[in-house]
Amino acid sequence: MTVPSTTTSPTTVPARTSGDAPGHGSTAWWRHAVIYQVYPRSFADGDGDGVGDLPGITSRLPYLRELGVDALWISPFYLSPMADAGYDVADYRAVDPVFGTMADADELLARAHELGLRVIIDLVPNHTSDEHAWFREALDAPAGSPARERYVFRDGTGPDGSLPPNNWRSVFGGAAWTRVTEPDGTPGQWYLHLFDSKQPDLNWRNPEVVEEFHDILRFWLDRGVDGFRVDVAHSLVKAEGLPDWEEKAVMAGGGDDESAHANLGPMWDQEEVHEIYRGWRQVLDSYNETGDPAHDRILCAEAWLPSVARTMRFVRPDEMHQAFNFHFLDTAWQAEDLRDVVTESLEEAAAVGAPTTWVLSNHDVVRHATRLGLPPGTRRPNGIAADDPQPNPVLGLRRARAATTLMLALPGSAYLYNGEELGLPDHTALPHDVRQDPAFFRTRGEETGRDGCRVPIPWVAGAPAYGFSEEERSWLPQPLVYGPLAADRQEGVAGSTLELYRTLLRLRREHGLGAGRLEWLEGHAPSVVAFRVHGAGGRPMTVLANLGADPLALPDGLEVLVASGRLEDGLVPQDTTVWLA
Ligand code: NOJ
Repeated sequence: MTVPSTTTSPTTVPARTSGDAPGHGSTAWWRHAVIYQVYPRSFADGDGDGVGDLPGITSRLPYLRELGVDALWISPFYLSPMADAGYDVADYRAVDPVFGTMADADELLARAHELGLRVIIDLVPNHTSDEHAWFREALDAPAGSPARERYVFRDGTGPDGSLPPNNWRSVFGGAAWTRVTEPDGTPGQWYLHLFDSKQPDLNWRNPEVVEEFHDILRFWLDRGVDGFRVDVAHSLVKAEGLPDWEEKAVMAGGGDDESAHANLGPMWDQEEVHEIYRGWRQVLDSYNETGDPAHDRILCAEAWLPSVARTMRFVRPDEMHQAFNFHFLDTAWQAEDLRDVVTESLEEAAAVGAPTTWVLSNHDVVRHATRLGLPPGTRRPNGIAADDPQPNPVLGLRRARAATTLMLALPGSAYLYNGEELGLPDHTALPHDVRQDPAFFRTRGEETGRDGCRVPIPWVAGAPAYGFSEEERSWLPQPLVYGPLAADRQEGVAGSTLELYRTLLRLRREHGLGAGRLEWLEGHAPSVVAFRVHGAGGRPMTVLANLGADPLALPDGLEVLVASGRLEDGLVPQDTTVWLA
């Protein structure tokens, strides 16, 4: 693989997040960064059409700076017919008009960098849109042509080719194959789509595809982005011969046996995929010739895999920098399980020299303020509809605050999902006629889908669309409960979830916890998660999360710096986490 010569970043990020930021020693920024996911459709609408956009994000950057995060990751804003909310890309070098213009993207990057915020964008390499120029060309070209070789076209089976090439099923429901009509009007070949039929899978065994993505990386690196979150990073290469697979292909499985097994199918995690990221790493590294960690550009793998060890293969020294820790997200609110997943994550990451990451919510899963309000032992649902058992919102928020307070003390890098700092729940009663997730339609409603966690953010309680848009419009309706949770209602209010997040992020930075070392504390009840983090700055932080019914006494000689909930008679009640130093 050839790698081009270096260019340097057009903008540099000021000291706050650089490699030698106070409290973090000389650790590279991405080893401890808190990265905030912006879902652009739902963050802030700058032009009043009811859909969030890039100018909207730019207008809210001071809020993110104030919140205290180090970077933002923005879900796709490329030109797209929006069959999967932008994860179906028609042109990787263009901004969709619904989100703005390329000038808006440049402005966002420049403004974020001025504020000391790094910007990671989302790259979708497994599939393009069926409206991408390459796929259109493939449809117009004959079977076996170079244009078809960029995708996974195969002849059908059965006497007249009217059956799909194999039995693979789409992650979003239905078959993973669609038959095309050839240019002469006859029924023709089939193409593979692990997701929607409007998301044809690319053929990553074709060097032209490899080269094209190197070029796309360079396009955005030249504009100054600080990295890429890589969509379904484990799916690019499929097993030779495309063998049948009896299981459903699951992307974001609930961590149960069935989905864990499904994630081992011939469409996931093939050995050759790692070679692709070695090539990408070389492209990124070529943008940091001096090797100053402050100028590192990073790759983060979205790879739902059955074990931490398997996930960590994506962050070996010459591959990606980070991988999402979905094992943490999928862990039940049980002390023993939490201890186990933290230990395993830290050990497996250390074994390959990578930082671990932590995450509790994103645009594909029910928000943790809702999830944790379901009865213990409930399998993580793929969306909650009005006629499903409803979560307990008070318990959910209480546990979510405790879970985040635990998470933000942990060494490594942490990901936040927009709105979780307001304690937002999912919309669990969206009318079906407003749903947009292709998974809802392809499963004929059997899967509720992910719209409930994608509802626009409430900024101002008394404004139209709660301040999301200037008009009374938002692409998904907001539930009434979003009014009292609006940012303006929480700003400066002691004990609000927003102020809790701000305090946690400030203390995390001051004490250098992200670059710290974790030591488990013995002698507590099994239902207490107790550890100390020896940070890169300040005094060690003691963290106690009480998941049990018995109130927990505070240790002598330490001061409570922050608590996820009110202490009762000086004791830590159930579902509450405290930081002490
Ligand atoms: C993972 C993304 O997070 C999800 O939203 C999308 O639907 C699939 N990949 C397909 O691109």
